Amino acid sequence: MLYAVILAGGTGTRLWPLSRAGHPKFLHPLTGTEASLLQVTAERLAPLAEPERSMVVTGVAHAAAVARQLPTLPEQNILVEPSPRDSCAAVALAAAVIARRDPAGVMGSFAADHLVVQPDRFADTIRAAVLGAERGLLMTVGIRPSRPETGYGYLECGEPLDGGPLRRVAEFKEKPVAAVAETYVVSGRHLWNAGMFVWRVDAFLAELARQQPELHDGIMSIAGAWGTDRQDEVLGAVWPTLPKISVDYAVMEGAAAAGKVATVSGDFGWTDVGDFHTLGDVLPADDSRNVVLGADTVAEKPGVLLRDSTGMIVVPRSGRLVAALGVHDLIVVDTEDAVLVCPRDRAQDVKKLVDDLKDRG
Ligand code: GDD
Ligand code: MG
Repeated sequence: MLYAVILAGGTGTRLWPLSRAGHPKFLHPLTGTEASLLQVTAERLAPLAEPERSMVVTGVAHAAAVARQLPTLPEQNILVEPSPRDSCAAVALAAAVIARRDPAGVMGSFAADHLVVQPDRFADTIRAAVLGAERGLLMTVGIRPSRPETGYGYLECGEPLDGGPLRRVAEFKEKPVAAVAETYVVSGRHLWNAGMFVWRVDAFLAELARQQPELHDGIMSIAGAWGTDRQDEVLGAVWPTLPKISVDYAVMEGAAAAGKVATVSGDFGWTDVGDFHTLGDVLPADDSRNVVLGADTVAEKPGVLLRDSTGMIVVPRSGRLVAALGVHDLIVVDTEDAVLVCPRDRAQDVKKLVDDLKDRG
């Protein structure tokens, strides 16, 4: 049996103005249904872990919304961070809290903001990863790359383990530069790291202690006070001192170099819904390649009027009518207090706009 941990942090700046610091993307329904990305993620994990073994790590600002959206999750299974310290601290906290209960327990860590088209195949892949985790390996899920994406990590696959579906990861390279990513895509040996990790908590914590002793010791002192009346005091004192680093850089690159990482390749229609362009690629489009969030077809959405326009991604969230004439491949996001218009191929740069906004104060 698995402990399923959902990391629900990050604000999703490339999905501005839909995603905001106060209402990050995992709380939004982005899948065309009413369910939020977080709810869809929890649903996908339900066959793998019962509610008692499911956890969400999230920021203090979102804990109440998480509890509202996941009413079957026991309250103590929402681990609340005082401030964002990136994914290593978040995942380590979950590992250390689980270890107190079940020192050799197997946990899986999953992002709250990914889409999976085939949940059954996803569950089978994770079950295969659990078998590797039980042997003490730090397991990753690999996805066959379709483009030289520089926002992902890459896994260089080594030999299969015992002729089975698991393969040793010879190198884990987080966010390579474009030229390197291009060589990976054509190599035939590299997979994208899906950002899903499965490991025995003792194996992970040992690797954390080896590579990030400061982070490890801080997390262990927090976990030692977890659930006691000293929890808030220790959390408040130690959490802000923890190194702010992602688990990919902090642990996975070094663990792979030490031969401790393996991967199982997954083929279940995976997308990291990082920006509007990717979102547009996974949602149903009409014959003119137009996508309207929240509707299967543009014709179904009375609040949107498109004429002689193709390849549009429209997110109507204000109640106003959104109309476009003779334009192509644009993103239009209409929210109550902000409107975004940008070409689809600039979707990655929306975060720069958010930086500009921050500079303005
Ligand atoms: N609770 C919490 N607190 N969660 C966090 C924090 C934090 O401070 N920071 C990040 N996370 C969560 C995010 O919500 C997401 O679920 C997960 O950790 C990964 O963080 P991202 O910031 O989305 O990472 P990324 O997309 O740049 O890269 C990761 O995912 C890629 C696949 O989508 C890496 O694992 C890459 O190697 C991978 O390819
Ligand atoms: Mg991500």
